[in-house]
Amino acid sequence: MEIPDSSSMKPLSRPELFDFEGVSMVHYFTDNWEKVKNFQARPDDILIATYPKAGTTWVSYILDLLYFGNDAPERQTSQPIYMRVPFLESCFKVIASGTELADNLTTSPRLIKTHLPVQLVPKSFWEQNSRIVYVARNGKDNAVSYFHFDRMNMGEPEPGDWNTFLQKFIEGKKVFGPWYDHVSGWWEKKQTYSNLLYMFYEDLVEDTGREVERLCSFLGLSTSVEEREKITKGVQFDAMKQNKMTNYSTIPVMDFKISPFMRKGKVGDWKNHFTVAQNEQFDEVYKQKMKNTTVKFRTEI
Ligand code: PPS
Repeated sequence: MEIPDSSSMKPLSRPELFDFEGVSMVHYFTDNWEKVKNFQARPDDILIATYPKAGTTWVSYILDLLYFGNDAPERQTSQPIYMRVPFLESCFKVIASGTELADNLTTSPRLIKTHLPVQLVPKSFWEQNSRIVYVARNGKDNAVSYFHFDRMNMGEPEPGDWNTFLQKFIEGKKVFGPWYDHVSGWWEKKQTYSNLLYMFYEDLVEDTGREVERLCSFLGLSTSVEEREKITKGVQFDAMKQNKMTNYSTIPVMDFKISPFMRKGKVGDWKNHFTVAQNEQFDEVYKQKMKNTTVKFRTEI
């Protein structure tokens, strides 16, 4: 598949948020809904699910290298990660829809990305017992990363200033709905669906090699130590930031002069954004919204 020719792409207009089956959404992720809902998953598919900005691209690239790094090295230099790992519900018109890209994948397994909350995932994934890797990131850093993403990405609603954005995040008025429901909904699913690996961004930052090993054992891969070490090195933040196939620089709707896609890649950057009052407010709401879940996050490592 070709890299889209950016000169032919029209700029997107910032969309409005609306309620879609109880979740805040923008039309770019609902326009193709019939096809998304009826998407035919396969038993060997691997779905990478996250709330936006929790480490999707990182884990997508790790999985791509684990499966195809050796057998198809040209894949790594000719196709951006968003073409190799289609974003299932996306329908940006400037490139093929996620379902079309996924249907056209010739690989086995197919790696597919989604930001859908668990209740909106197409039912064929459950019926086919496909493997799912969910990545979660602590809410404070997730909010900061999402804020900078919305500033630079014309496919997202206007974020306003940091405080305006944070209030919307806390209220759950963000694309793909409340962070709280997303991370806890998927956490509950893990209790009954055994083909789901629940990972944390903070663990990946703390020890990428250990998490690559966890992925291999979940996926039943007998990747050698040398190969895992090579992959671990290749997926470090600086390497991915320099890599045109993983840093999203081939997408014109993102203005890297405002903020790059590969921004900081740190745990704890929230401390540079939250005021004391905002932090207290966040902690208070967090206690309330997360009182019925056992999932635990680290906001520093
Ligand atoms: S998206 O748009 O939802 O698919 O974004 P997503 O890939 O989920 O998240 C982007 C954030 O992940 C950071 N990132 C990394 N951090 C550390 N190491 C590596 N290799 C890495 N790759 C991506 C990226 O920098 C974004 O986080 P912030 O905090 O904004 O830097």
